[in-house]
Amino acid sequence: MKTHPLRSVLFVCLGNICRSPLAEGVFRSVLAAEGKDRGIHIDSAGTNGYHTGEAPDERSILAARQHGIDISDQRCRQLKAEDFVSFDLILGMDRANVAAIQDRRPANATAETGLFSEIALGEASQIPDPYCGTQADFERVYRMVLKASKGLSKRF
Ligand code: 4NP
Repeated sequence: MKTHPLRSVLFVCLGNICRSPLAEGVFRSVLAAEGKDRGIHIDSAGTNGYHTGEAPDERSILAARQHGIDISDQRCRQLKAEDFVSFDLILGMDRANVAAIQDRRPANATAETGLFSEIALGEASQIPDPYCGTQADFERVYRMVLKASKGLSKRF
């Protein structure tokens, strides 16, 4: 684990349309509120490529907007090998995401990888996939992502 301040983070979920776009937007706003966002690279990606090029799910866009954050400009992309050298940290939302991240880890990888809540808070909680859920499930994801983002900001 790197002890100096981190400069970049990639948030990863399955589809990169529900959870990780929210994490990207919320973490950026948390760092900005703390005046720590200068020169920091924040992005998100999916372990699958089913929605490549799409905007985030409307329910994620709404959950973010209800808290003053605009994520509508984000576009879905898939996790790629270069991410493992260009980011300091790659975080999965749930354990299946973390396993898929490890499966794609190339030999030259330098990034620290792990479960978002564990790295950020020392808690082994997972951020559940809200895709088949309701707006309330997206709001719950927002709250979990906000709490973890506040913890993660201590390392930036
Ligand atoms: P996400 O949610 O991983 O939080 O973006 C999902 C989005 C799409 C699908 C599954 C999960 N999908 O199967 O298309």
